[in-house]
Amino acid sequence: MNETLPSAHATREASYVPAQLAVIVPTFNEVDNVAVLYDKLSVALAGRAWEMIVVDDNSPDGTAERVNLLSRAHSNVRGIRRIGRRGLSSACIEGMAATAAPYVAVIDADLQHDEAILPRMLELAIAGNDLVVGSRFAGEGSAGDGLSSARLKGSEVATRLAGMVAGNRVSDPMSGFFLVRRELFLELAPKLAHEGFKILLDIVVTAEKSGTHLSIAEVPYTFRPRHAGESKMSPLVVVQYLGLWGSKLTGGVLPPTFLLFGLVGGLGVAVHLVVLQALTAGLGVGFVVAQIVATLVAMTSNFFLNNSLTYSDRKLRGAKLWTGLLGFYAICSLGGLANVSIATLVFQWNHMTLVAGLAGAVMSSVFNYAVTRAFTWK
Ligand code: GDD
Ligand code: MN
Repeated sequence: MNETLPSAHATREASYVPAQLAVIVPTFNEVDNVAVLYDKLSVALAGRAWEMIVVDDNSPDGTAERVNLLSRAHSNVRGIRRIGRRGLSSACIEGMAATAAPYVAVIDADLQHDEAILPRMLELAIAGNDLVVGSRFAGEGSAGDGLSSARLKGSEVATRLAGMVAGNRVSDPMSGFFLVRRELFLELAPKLAHEGFKILLDIVVTAEKSGTHLSIAEVPYTFRPRHAGESKMSPLVVVQYLGLWGSKLTGGVLPPTFLLFGLVGGLGVAVHLVVLQALTAGLGVGFVVAQIVATLVAMTSNFFLNNSLTYSDRKLRGAKLWTGLLGFYAICSLGGLANVSIATLVFQWNHMTLVAGLAGAVMSSVFNYAVTRAFTWK
């Protein structure tokens, strides 16, 4: 008898087909969508070797537990649970980095994207396209009933802004539905912004900037209304998008978080002046006391705004919030000192009040940004 029974190990190896396509699904509170999405993907991708990787930010609604149930029933489902982290772009990045499949797609969990076009997207990638975008605005595509009229208007403006930095390479640069070669993604990954919603735009711009000319294909589809749950789109996300856009306009020299930090700082100046005016003119408080109170109020509002806007992905909570606030006061006081010293030096040198004032302000902004980034929101 020369027939030997294969070992258990060999049996598994023989029946195992590695995934050709990984479908990355970022989730936050999508408990009633993940299983429906899996079923739909199974139909769309029947006969192909594919896997679904859900990247969940520890959703309070129990999405990760639901994904675990799916994993126990299907060998091609995995969940990554991120604790104490938030953010759509960074979730997509981590999901794409977690697979060995040569092609990776990103799709929303809420069934707004039409999974039925995935096989076509995959074919186009196999045929040599680096990036294939599911587009609401190409050919037969449409935003359907998936967007309210206000969202549609906003989406148009955002798409136009995106065109300014992405050079109109794609008709739907705001799409959250696309497929890339994993190797290309890995090449670009170190340069991608982790904040915000706009990973596709970032991939296109980053590739162009690093001199990689992408061949891009688009597949039209009709955007559907959300299945269960609620959208996470918010004014915050819009401002974060403006940060990313501004950063791309500077050719990436200024990071989005720096621009948002600067924006918050600008608002802080307004808060400071309003409080100062109200206290002195309104309540008759003496200047020095009013100035101290106004400074504290402005620093406090800057801290909370930065915590929810600039650093929404690493938001401080609980006890860390309060120690963070104290640290922020300390750092900003040093920043104030740096401001006055630089301004004084510049003033002694050229006697131009505005130039000296500006130099001081820039100095303290850069100082506050760099130091709070290293110590407060590390
Ligand atoms: N892990 C993780 N972390 N996932 C998130 C987060 C987060 O902080 N925020 C949102 N998601 C997930 C949602 O659970 C959903 O699966 C997907 O990202 C899209 O979020 P939605 O809240 O449904 O966004 P939307 O429908 O308003 O916007 C989508 O469509 C737009 C097209 O109009 C996104 O795909 C946008 O990128 C896209 O521009
Ligand atoms: Mn959605």
